[in-house]
Amino acid sequence: MKILHFSDIHTGGHFNSLKSLFDKRIIGTINYRLRRKKHVLWDRLDRAIEIIKNEKPDVVINTGDITSVSEPSEFLEAQNRLEPLVKEDSFLFLNVPGNHDYYTNNKLHFADRNTTYSYLNRAAFELEELPLKIETEAATFILVDESRPNKGSLSSGIISNEAIDKIEKWTSFKQDKPYILVGHYPLKDKLGNPLAQRRHLENSEPLVSLLENGKINVTLCGHIHAPFIRKENSGALEVCAGSLTIGGKLNKLELNESTGEFTHSWIDLN
Ligand SMILES: [Fe+2]
Ligand SMILES: [Fe+2]
Repeated sequence: MKILHFSDIHTGGHFNSLKSLFDKRIIGTINYRLRRKKHVLWDRLDRAIEIIKNEKPDVVINTGDITSVSEPSEFLEAQNRLEPLVKEDSFLFLNVPGNHDYYTNNKLHFADRNTTYSYLNRAAFELEELPLKIETEAATFILVDESRPNKGSLSSGIISNEAIDKIEKWTSFKQDKPYILVGHYPLKDKLGNPLAQRRHLENSEPLVSLLENGKINVTLCGHIHAPFIRKENSGALEVCAGSLTIGGKLNKLELNESTGEFTHSWIDLN
């Protein structure tokens, strides 16, 4: 089984909503304009789409932050930019949201987010159904929604106790194929240390244990814009794809189904 995984494309930087001048979106938009716009290169996504089609993967995964401040125009831009992957039905396309896709408590933007992810996931499921277990012949994918609105410059997320209960129950079942957790937040940083509280995943300790014990075999994530891969003593892998449009990397993960071993490489889009 071949998986190609990317994250954090971060559309946006539009000043489309006057309302955004009065909440934290103004900070996010200015931040995007000042820091990101120089580095967000869309030809990296165009190249990635071509490579994905040529690589003939079984599964393509996007671990969120498709927008910058959850503006409707950003969700629309993301739908348009990712449309070639939605329409190419030779692989399974799985998408989970990031914190930038749930930037404020605005109900309309929340509905837009859900509609957009439903479109990206080819209407196979809705975000409200997460955590969700998706079975393929070679692996079990567990999709989680860890996003929530934050105050100021915080960018943390949360995993609910209900979600943890389900994931613990699912992964307690021993099977021949691996469990692959698909979420936005890395469980640790590239050196294996906890993430700073302002950007970490709250309530993640049980997931950390499942990874350390090898009950979860792989976690796929983004959020941190520099890509990294690390291995637990159990052999379990955490792969953060970084930001595709900023870091320019695509995570290629191949599972040898007879040995259960994963082989990882980066596809460089720069
Ligand atoms: Fe991000
Ligand atoms: Fe993020």
